[in-house]
Amino acid sequence: MSEESREPIIQLIDVCKSFGDQSVLENVNLDIFEGTTTVIIGPSGTGKSVILKQMMGLLKPTSGRVLVFGQDLSRISKRELQAIRMNFGVLFQNVALFDSMNVFDNVALPLRERTKASEKEIRQNVEEKLALMDLDGVNEKYPAQLSGGMLKRVGLARALVLNPKVIFFDEPTTGLDINKSNEIYRVFYRSQLRFKYTSVIVSHDVPRIFKLTDYVALLADRTIVNSISPEDFQLSKHPAIKSFVETTMGPIYISEEEEADYYEKI
Ligand SMILES: Nc1ncnc2c1ncn2[C@@H]1O[C@H](COP(=O)(O)OP(=O)(O)O)[C@@H](O)[C@H]1O
Ligand SMILES: [Mg+2]
Repeated sequence: MSEESREPIIQLIDVCKSFGDQSVLENVNLDIFEGTTTVIIGPSGTGKSVILKQMMGLLKPTSGRVLVFGQDLSRISKRELQAIRMNFGVLFQNVALFDSMNVFDNVALPLRERTKASEKEIRQNVEEKLALMDLDGVNEKYPAQLSGGMLKRVGLARALVLNPKVIFFDEPTTGLDINKSNEIYRVFYRSQLRFKYTSVIVSHDVPRIFKLTDYVALLADRTIVNSISPEDFQLSKHPAIKSFVETTMGPIYISEEEEADYYEKI
């Protein structure tokens, strides 16, 4: 689909957000397009999670508008907001699985709480998602028995189980080494190819596997500088982007060979 024919599924329009007299975001404009992946990057403590929470309707902008599926989140009822949220999946840094529940029950929970699916449908759905995450055979395990990377994959399986239109990831690879991070991004990518959801990822780094993201949006000096392709991002002459690339990203392009190897595994 060409970009021009795409409607933004989420739009931040001149969003400002303050807490007391602390101004965190100023005139943030950002469009999220259906079926794409956008990575929002920036130093820690600068407002990335605040942006995500506003997209989810968990925080209201001090001024400006947040539109989701064309609806202004500040102008709709609680009920309408809840209906919109049914289309969202989330995966936060700490994953937040229930320690007392095994993997199967953790992933099945949203289905049991929010739908009338039969146990047979639940089993089918949960096992499909776990298989896609390379998690066959761990149904009966408890979170404490899993590695960090596996926990994140269980979290993603749970985020996928209601077939959301949008998934929000807040620092999904925090705490993982570079290989594990790439592995997680690879699994995200594969699940997105399969389910075609829209992905908004907040991260302090950019996935080294470049093709996994369509847009990179830098949050600097309280605003989103630009939302552009990773290739354009790396070549950008914009001072804030240039400085971010130079100081924190290093050589983010990996060799074609190395990259080809990743795609083979997807
Ligand atoms: N609910 C809140 N109340 C007051 N201040 C907040 C709240 N949420 C975030 N902040 C402040 O907003 C700033 C940005 O926070 P955050 O979005 O969590 O940063 P990031 O995700 O980029 O690390 C921080 O200074 C934080 O203390
Ligand atoms: Mg954060």
